[in-house]
Amino acid sequence: MITILDKQFIPFINRETIENRITELAEQINNDYKDRCPLFLVVLNGAFLFATELVKNIPLTCEITFVRLSSYAQTESTGNVRQIIGLEEKITDRDVIIIEDIVDTGLTMTQLLSQIEDHKPKSIEIATLLHKPEALQKPVKMRYVGFEIENRFVVGYGLDYDGLGRNLDALYVLKE
Ligand code: IMP
Ligand code: MG
Repeated sequence: MITILDKQFIPFINRETIENRITELAEQINNDYKDRCPLFLVVLNGAFLFATELVKNIPLTCEITFVRLSSYAQTESTGNVRQIIGLEEKITDRDVIIIEDIVDTGLTMTQLLSQIEDHKPKSIEIATLLHKPEALQKPVKMRYVGFEIENRFVVGYGLDYDGLGRNLDALYVLKE
């Protein structure tokens, strides 16, 4: 068991299991994108470790770029709108693969997708390490999913609790 700030977490998915699964996802991408030059769009901060492990196993000719999402409160009650920071690359006519740490409610991904689609990529797919199907509020088509997990809070392997725990080499789940 580990403690981060006021919370206790227990081991959930170990490093070997995570990395074996990421290797499988990489193999799928290698097959699906033969003879293409995908543009990986890594969503910071959470996806950095997943992206590293994934692209190390992808020998395709490809580009890798990084975006951050900044959320700001709107005056209307529509919730937070997220802006992409760092999307300078030309994504028009590119085969884009978004790399995310987790799709939870799906709201972040829905907003990200609509902003990327404005630039008219040739294709767009999602690779996410984790997905919580029970939490999904908007339908999101995810082609590469590492693990579908229950609706519980996890840290490690890039995911944080209040900024901490991203460096953990395995996934931990909040102790209930
Ligand atoms: P969304 O609810 O799908 O919009 O998820 C937005 C963001 O919430 C993700 O990119 C993560 O940064 C964060 N998040 C969701 N679930 C977890 C979790 O279990 N642990 C850590 N961060 C999470
Ligand atoms: Mg994130």
